[in-house]
Order: sequence, then C-alpha cells, then structure tokens
Amino acid sequence: MAPVEQPSWEQNKLLLLFLFLVLLAVPAAALPVAAAEQWPYHSLLKSSCSSTLYPDLCYSAVASSVFASSAAPLSTHKDIILASLNLTIGSAKQNRLSVLDLTRTRSAQLTAREKTALNDCVETIDLTLDELHSTVADLHVYPQRKTLLQHADDLKTLISAAITNQETCLDGFSHDDADRHVRQRLSDGQVHVERMCSNALAMVKSLTDADIAAEKARMARSNRKLREEAVAEDAQWPKWVKAGDRKLLQASSVAANVTVAADGSGDYRTVSAAVADAPLKSEKRYVIRIKAGVYEENVEVPKKKTNIMFLGEGRGKTVVTSNRSVVNGSTTFKSATVAVVEVEQFTAGQFIGGGSWLGSTGFPFTLGMF
Ligand SMILES: *[C@@H]1O[C@H](CO)[C@@H](O)[C@H](O)[C@H]1NC(C)=O
Ligand SMILES: *[C@@H]1O[C@H](CO)[C@@H](O)[C@H](O)[C@H]1NC(C)=O
Ligand SMILES: *[C@@H]1O[C@H](CO)[C@@H](O)[C@H](O)[C@H]1NC(C)=O
Ligand SMILES: *[C@@H]1O[C@H](CO)[C@@H](O)[C@H](O)[C@H]1NC(C)=O
Repeated sequence: MAPVEQPSWEQNKLLLLFLFLVLLAVPAAALPVAAAEQWPYHSLLKSSCSSTLYPDLCYSAVASSVFASSAAPLSTHKDIILASLNLTIGSAKQNRLSVLDLTRTRSAQLTAREKTALNDCVETIDLTLDELHSTVADLHVYPQRKTLLQHADDLKTLISAAITNQETCLDGFSHDDADRHVRQRLSDGQVHVERMCSNALAMVKSLTDADIAAEKARMARSNRKLREEAVAEDAQWPKWVKAGDRKLLQASSVAANVTVAADGSGDYRTVSAAVADAPLKSEKRYVIRIKAGVYEENVEVPKKKTNIMFLGEGRGKTVVTSNRSVVNGSTTFKSATVAVVEVEQFTAGQFIGGGSWLGSTGFPFTLGMF
C-alpha cells in the first residue's frame, strides 16, 4: 500500500503565501461585488467617487485603507475626501522617500542635471505635502471658518497646485534617454499622487458646488421672507393699499361685517361660504374676519364681489391652505395685519389681512383673483 503523500513544507509554505496574498488582495479592488454592496460605506463612497476622473482608484484606495485599519467612520462626503487626502499624503511621503533613495543609491550614475532635477522633485513633493496638509486643515474647519465661496476657492487652489507639482517633478526628466530611466522609476508614484489629487479636486468641487447652491437657495428664500417682514414691520404698505385701509388695518380692532370660524362660533364655517354671501358690486368695504384655524379650501373670489377684505388673526394662526395654484394678483404676504389688495388695482379681486396663506405645496398662497 502506497503511503499517503504528505504535502511538503515547501508546498505548505506556498499555500500559506497564496492565502496571505489573497487576504491582502481582498480589501483592495478585488472585493467581491456582493460583499462590497453590503459594506456600510459602499453607497456613500461610490457616490463621492462618481464625480472623479478615476473612480475605481478613488473607491479602492479609500475602501482598502478603511479595511486595513479601524480608521474613523465615514459618514459624510467630507469624511471621504479627508480619508482620501490622508492616503494621498501617505503616497506623497512614499514618493519623497523614493526620490531620496534614488539620489543616494544611484549617485554615481546620475548626471549633475539629474541630481538637480531630483532635488527639485523633493522640493515640489514638500510643496505638495504642505498644500495637502493645508487642504486637510481647511476641510476640518469647513464650512464654518470662512464663507463657502472662500473655502471653495482656497481648497480648489491648494489641490490644483498639488496636482501640477507632480508634473513639474517628472518634467525634470524628459531631456534624454538616460533621464527616461529615472523618470520611469518615479513615474508610477507621481502619477498615482496626481490622480489622487485630481480625484480630491473633483470631490471638493462637487461638495462645495452643492453646498453653495443650497446656500443660495436658502438665501433666496430668507431674502424674500425678509422683504415680506420688512413690509409688515416698517408698515411700508404696498402702493395699492389706500390710506384709508392702512388706517383701518392699523387700528387695533377692525369691525368685521361677518366672521368665519371653523368651530362654528362665527357666522360661517368656511371662507368660501362667507364669500358666497358677500354683496355684489359693493361700494363699501365688506370685512370678513377669519378666526384662528386652518381652513382647507380653495377660496375663489368672483370679480363681481368687490371691496371684500379678509382679516385673519395673525401669521401661523389663521391659515388658509389650498392645493390650487395662484392664478393672478398673488402676493406672498404672510404677516399678520398687513395687506389689502385693492379692488381697483386688479382686474378682479380683493384681498387679505393677516393670516398665512399657504398652498399645500408649501408655497405662499393667496386668493386667486377671478
Ligand atoms: C490618517 O492617517 C493616519 C496614519 O497615517 C491615521 O492615524 C489617521 O487616523 C488617518 N486619518 C483619517 C481621517 O483617515
Ligand atoms: C361693513 O360694516 C361697516 C360697519 O361696521 C359698514 O359701514 C359697512 O357698510 C359694511 N359693509 C357692507 C358691504 O355692508
Ligand atoms: C385639491 O383638493 C380638492 C379637495 O380637497 C381635490 O378634490 C382636488 O382633486 C385637489 N386637486 C389637486 C390637483 O390635488
Ligand atoms: C392676470 O391678470 C391680467 C390683467 O391684470 C390678465 O391679463 C391675465 O390674463 C391674468 N392671468 C391669469 C392667469 O388669469
């Protein structure tokens, strides 16, 4: 009976080496797709990297570093840019060591010009490191320390400078054949850092563009609100509000002709019902007081119902909501006790006084003029 063949030590060693390499490889790009998708940072990282020129490099670099260490958790795009920059700094340091190593070990074969070029490389790498450290520092205080535009400008300038440094280093070795050898030794590392910087630039641009757009939208909204509030507080009445009406509205109490109350304590339960009963072609002001409450209705005021004034109990108290879009003569007044739409100023219409007029879409809503 032949003895069972035992694997030799050499074979075992190979197997172990193989397993070791497989384990090393897993955290990098070779992560099985299914596993990658279950990885908690997968979507965030993929989305961050989608704006870059080298998305695979972007993804695998950060993914492998997170797998390899128990680094801080990634929860925002900013975290990913920081992690990516951290790696880039590591690679740039590696490049610096390579250049110094080359200078030292090949000193005898290097021409004077090559030595100068290598020295220049160390300098440009030092510059890159400074710029990347400044970028990280700036990102750490982003977006509080400066205006968004200033942050965006500084970050992009720093990273752009870092990108060009790598080219500057390689350009020092494009003079003759001998140079090419040195260039080749440095190229991979320089190109890697350049691509990582390019990715960082794209991610920073994407982050700051989004934040700037959001701030612009927010400012546009609050400016409008400010204008509205200024109208209320400074009593800068719209020009179509007649002096008599201003006095009326400024008076602490306005005698109403009818009252609408959702709870039934008034003359009507709905604004529409009160409008329906309002006089036609009235020469006199007809004041409809709307008590606090939310009225979900499309209030339409026919053209013939002239001189109607609505009076609410204040912003956030009397709210008329409607899913109907504003037809004409809309205003965005939301403040209490302001605003009358004068009949004569519109082809039809009338209007308001206190209360929030909000469409169900969340946009300010005013009575349509018909
Ligand atoms: C950056 O890398 C260093 C080690 O090189 C590590 O200690 C640190 O946690 C890293 N920071 C981030 C944000 O990844
Ligand atoms: C509304 O009431 C006031 C007095 O409270 C009155 O002078 C006015 O004529 C009334 N409006 C109409 C249209 O009846
Ligand atoms: C608006 O609301 C009314 C009643 O609440 C409803 O019948 C109508 O379908 C709505 N219209 C739209 C466009 O949602
Ligand atoms: C709004 O009013 C103007 C006249 O002031 C009119 O020409 C226009 O057709 C109206 N628009 C709508 C949508 O009713």
